[in-house]
Amino acid sequence: MDVGVARWLVSDAAAPALALACGFADPQSLSAADAMRKRWTPEQSAAALTQAWLRRKARTKFGAAADQMFFTPDGLQQATRPAVAQWRAGEYAAHSQTAVVDFGCGIGADSLAFARAGLQVMAVERDPVTAVFAQANLAAFPSAAVITSDELPPDAAALFLDPARRTAAGRSWRVADLSPSWEFCLAALRGRFGCLKCGPGLGYEYIPSDMGAVWASDSGDLVELALWRGSRAYPAGFRGALVGQQLLATDPGAEPAPVRAETPGFIYEPDPAVIRAGGVARLAAMVSGWQLAENIAYIGSQELTATGFATAFAVLEVLDYDERALAKWVRAAGVGVLEIKARGIDVDPAKLRRRLKPRGDAAATLILSPTSAGARAFAVTRCRAQV
Ligand SMILES: C[S@@+](CC[C@H](N)C(=O)[O-])C[C@H]1O[C@@H](n2cnc3c(N)ncnc32)[C@H](O)[C@@H]1O
Repeated sequence: MDVGVARWLVSDAAAPALALACGFADPQSLSAADAMRKRWTPEQSAAALTQAWLRRKARTKFGAAADQMFFTPDGLQQATRPAVAQWRAGEYAAHSQTAVVDFGCGIGADSLAFARAGLQVMAVERDPVTAVFAQANLAAFPSAAVITSDELPPDAAALFLDPARRTAAGRSWRVADLSPSWEFCLAALRGRFGCLKCGPGLGYEYIPSDMGAVWASDSGDLVELALWRGSRAYPAGFRGALVGQQLLATDPGAEPAPVRAETPGFIYEPDPAVIRAGGVARLAAMVSGWQLAENIAYIGSQELTATGFATAFAVLEVLDYDERALAKWVRAAGVGVLEIKARGIDVDPAKLRRRLKPRGDAAATLILSPTSAGARAFAVTRCRAQV
């Protein structure tokens, strides 16, 4: 998109175009484009319709606030989820930081959280269209300014970096593909308070020894690894998992949880952030549990303990992991809605579900896992109050 069109789109002049575009059942339809082009140029029409479509998509991330925001497709995909941005901004505020440079601010999801936490924000973005949208998204905060640049302001006290992880071929997980570069980010943070947002799959070997590491999940999705420098809450060497707004400090070097052959009354499925942060043993201790098998992130226990760090399931029945026996069980129980979870077993749950031919009114969940007594299928039910 041309930056001139972007400026028009965020101006009052474009409000009628956006209102019309947002009203179409399908903003990507030909009829919507035809109707728009009667009043606006093809470029303006396309920009308003794309925005309407992006706002609709953005509701899953930003809720109703999305209807007032501006997005690029990449900007939306890369934007930090509000709950995680709020947690991060809270940590800057807790450190009495009054100003932050958000370098590579995208459409400004983190900048918004910093501004809401009362910090002065200098948001730097090299892409002119994205910068226009960030400016519009931050318009309600006089304490936030956006500059179009690819240079780090020399007087940045506290810093936040969220390097782009995309190449021409799409999303990339390679450190070498980061922009700004990995080396630049680490050098920029040297001697400063700040945070570097990374992909949650970043190899452990990349985590600098002088930074604290927190893996964050949101609604069960593992969304980022936040590397902190100069933080009291997440000092050098710290490892932890953020689930919702709850933090579990982990110790990846600790002894693994014990493995027991005992039939559990409950199975806990740890949140993905807990697993990635090496917190399974810690969680097992919290719920008086054990691992169903070595290196398998299912925790068995006889106790139901309230925790936000795992989903708890009550075990109803223990079956051998045998396809014919499972098909018979599914048939006998009249199971039509079948959820299959598996770890440590070489099976595609979606394909297995099809082969088991679920038919009937009942719903069931099967957890497949190796155990020290062999592979088992646990028929379970979610303990909803625990989630
Ligand atoms: C992952 S996005 C940031 C998302 C943002 N934290 C949010 O939640 O909305 C990274 C942004 O950095 C910008 N960027 C990449 N390299 C840059 C550089 N050298 N200088 C300034 N901005 C840069 C990209 O254009 C992209 O918009």
